[in-house]
Amino acid sequence: MRNIWVNEAFVEQLDDMLRRRKRERSDELFYYGRVVLVDTLLKVKDGDYVLDIGCGGGDTIKRYENRCFVVGIDISRKMCKEAKKNISRGEIVIASMEHLPFKDGVMDKVVAVYSIVYSPHKRKIMKEISRVLREKGELVIYDPNRISIRTLIRRLLCIKFSISGEKDNPKYIHHKIVTKQALSYFDFRNLGYEVNLNLVYWCGIFSIHTFLPSKIFSLMDKLGYKKWGNAPILKFFSDFLILKFVKDREKENCKEGRKEENVF
Ligand SMILES: C[S@@+](CC[C@H](N)C(=O)[O-])C[C@H]1O[C@@H](n2cnc3c(N)ncnc32)[C@H](O)[C@@H]1O
Repeated sequence: MRNIWVNEAFVEQLDDMLRRRKRERSDELFYYGRVVLVDTLLKVKDGDYVLDIGCGGGDTIKRYENRCFVVGIDISRKMCKEAKKNISRGEIVIASMEHLPFKDGVMDKVVAVYSIVYSPHKRKIMKEISRVLREKGELVIYDPNRISIRTLIRRLLCIKFSISGEKDNPKYIHHKIVTKQALSYFDFRNLGYEVNLNLVYWCGIFSIHTFLPSKIFSLMDKLGYKKWGNAPILKFFSDFLILKFVKDREKENCKEGRKEENVF
């Protein structure tokens, strides 16, 4: 299946949709969602080499550009253009996460926010990430969860779209790909293990309300739904997974210290 983000017209429509939603929910994203969690888990230090794969408009690396050497890669030309406008330091490169254009062992941190799900070649991606990370380098992934209620609702919406003949609707195309390609906690953990990336911490995030009638959502909100991401058992079924891996095996392939300036 061709990556949807290579289709410029599609990206235009999808980007509009996501942008609108992001504006509406920026508070929620900040307090419950990925921004705080990614920051907390990534723990960037001054001078770190930070790579964002599927960087989109560059919002994640923008947060670190004054303290670190930041590089963003994205398969979409349009998103790369936006990221270039958004960040004032660092590099933005049009590339696929399946073939990272960097030398081995040059990155301290790799972050992937809602991007890995769009590729069906997860093993290749994890292998590439492991290759570019230095020894003890860290990876933080934020991605939809295959075994969540959110994914289930998306599956039902796909059936609804196909019954009503709306197969060209960008939401249908998007939901179809995400539901088909999302991984669970177990899939990520096992994939990481295969490529020398050890899962050291993970939690879940719940934000299903985008699909629910407001009355049901406010009831769930009262029950503290958004904060169940750390609850035992429940977190396996969270809407999104946020996982932190450390590269800590296969030492013979890793570089000592920070001698390399040129990462490409
Ligand atoms: C939902 S957006 C998330 C963007 C950004 N990480 C954020 O949090 O705002 C997904 C991004 O992944 C990118 N992407 C999808 N497949 C990719 C691939 N194989 N290689 C690189 N980037 C990819 C898309 O172009 C898009 O910019």
